[in-house]
Amino acid sequence: MLEPRHILITGASSGLGAALARAYAGPGRRLFLAGRADDRLAAVADHCRRMGAAVDTTVLDVTDRAAMAAWMIQADDAAPLDLVIANAGISGGTYGGSESEVQVRAIFAANVDGVLNTILPIQPRMEARRRGQIALMASLAGHRGFPSAPAYCASKAAVKVWGEALRGQLAPHGIAVSVVMPGYVKSPMTDANDFPMPFLMPAERAAHIIRDGLARNRARIAFPWPMTMIAWLLGMLHPALTDPCLARLPKKK
Ligand SMILES: NC(=O)c1ccc[n+]([C@@H]2O[C@H](COP(=O)([O-])OP(=O)(O)OC[C@H]3O[C@@H](n4cnc5c(N)ncnc54)[C@H](OP(=O)(O)O)[C@@H]3O)[C@@H](O)[C@H]2O)c1
Repeated sequence: MLEPRHILITGASSGLGAALARAYAGPGRRLFLAGRADDRLAAVADHCRRMGAAVDTTVLDVTDRAAMAAWMIQADDAAPLDLVIANAGISGGTYGGSESEVQVRAIFAANVDGVLNTILPIQPRMEARRRGQIALMASLAGHRGFPSAPAYCASKAAVKVWGEALRGQLAPHGIAVSVVMPGYVKSPMTDANDFPMPFLMPAERAAHIIRDGLARNRARIAFPWPMTMIAWLLGMLHPALTDPCLARLPKKK
């Protein structure tokens, strides 16, 4: 079982990232947490300190490559990182129309470039010391492009496939890589949805599942299982078979 002591989490000011920070907080742990909302990030950090963790916070935008590289190196110099969780992300849909260019580019910038900006600065350091763990936050939406959220699904598919390949590439270097693929988790991101979300799960429960999967170095941490089966099947079937069904899905905002 992997027991990380020095953990860095992006998008820790809200939802899953905040729940993961709380799930790892405890004596002997040092957490490096980042987000954009100063006040919410500070509240999460206070909670984690009360649970016994040492916490450093940084307000930054994951799309800022230079700022991310500087922060990753600074954190790793302060305490060699055992686990890096690239969690920050945004969502958006068509709401029955088309996605604007601004929205498509913003989603790819946060969800893909943001992940690269988190992992690429630390990867050579982990390789050099032949240990470390990387968790990439994808989504079950990465199994199949849904017409209601093209950019989001595509960004998560990119993270999923990159993470799967990275796992094989980095295993001989002593680095563990897991791809996390949640279904619906209650958070400000899903609070924006005005349609029924099957098997919606509290963020605390999701964080527990992710932490357990990472401790076991699972290649893919996908949950809950009924949504996992549905999403996987949708990805396996020929689009000609599934298009009519997906066209009837609710239009995501
Ligand atoms: N909730 C779900 O059902 C679900 C399912 C599958 C996958 N996911 C993935 O899980 C991750 C977390 O989602 P969530 O549900 O916890 O959403 P959330 O509550 O909206 O939290 C998103 C987090 O990402 C941060 N963030 C977004 N864009 C950023 C940027 N450009 N720079 C820095 N930080 C940024 C936010 O920071 P601020 O709030 O401070 O701006 C926030 O801390 C995302 O990658 C999401 O795609 C979520």
